[in-house]
Amino acid sequence: MTPRRLGRPLIRLETVDSTNRAAAELAGQGAAEGTVVVAEVQTGGRGRLGRSWSSPRGGLWLTTILRPPATAGETVATLALVGGVAVAEAVGRLTSWLDQPPEVRVKWPNDVHLNGRKLAGILGQVCPPDAVLLGIGLNLNVSPEELPFDVRSLATSLGREAGRFMDPSASLEVLFAELSHWYGRWLDEGFAPIRRRCLDLSATIGRPVRVSGPDLELEGEAVDIMDDGALLVRTGGRDTVVRSGDVSVRTQ
Ligand code: BTN
Repeated sequence: MTPRRLGRPLIRLETVDSTNRAAAELAGQGAAEGTVVVAEVQTGGRGRLGRSWSSPRGGLWLTTILRPPATAGETVATLALVGGVAVAEAVGRLTSWLDQPPEVRVKWPNDVHLNGRKLAGILGQVCPPDAVLLGIGLNLNVSPEELPFDVRSLATSLGREAGRFMDPSASLEVLFAELSHWYGRWLDEGFAPIRRRCLDLSATIGRPVRVSGPDLELEGEAVDIMDDGALLVRTGGRDTVVRSGDVSVRTQ
């Protein structure tokens, strides 16, 4: 496997509206694959489905420019899962020294959960003609009290779960090592190894879920992740392929 070095050049900004917006500008000017924009604070952080993403000081807010061979919708969906697996693996490494390491899970389509609360979100975005932007927001040392009231009880931070301040530079290094590894596998082997790891780390597979999306509402069991990154949900005998939306695990 040819190692890919994502994370260089690393462009550090104090404050920006959105690292995805800044990275789109750089991609349009021809910035190389692997270029990363990281900011201390975002004033207009973007989340999935047109939502905003609260980004106070203390988090890792960054966007990596990728130039994959194609940029179709399924490419972006599977690359968002590359991001999810890489973040989950990095978090596993960063907490492996704890007596009781927290439980890290990938929650389809693009969240990483720690001990059942949201730690990170990934925003994959096509940047025509040939780039994909992988935005990662990770609550490193942001305490949930600094987040908007409606997400506070659902969120956590790595520092809080680890019980100590997490060093941002060291955390970024581990994150880029994992991102480089899993993106390299995606390029060389396709989505299959990432899909397998996603299934191992999944918070939803085999569990009763509720899906609410732009054009669909359903309840069922999450049974699989498809070759194109979609989620398969079974209701009675009927399978539905879910490509976008929010998935919550139902407690029975
Ligand atoms: C989600 O909705 O869960 C995805 C959130 C993605 C947030 C990150 S923070 C860095 C990058 N810049 C943005 O504006 N958004 C992404």
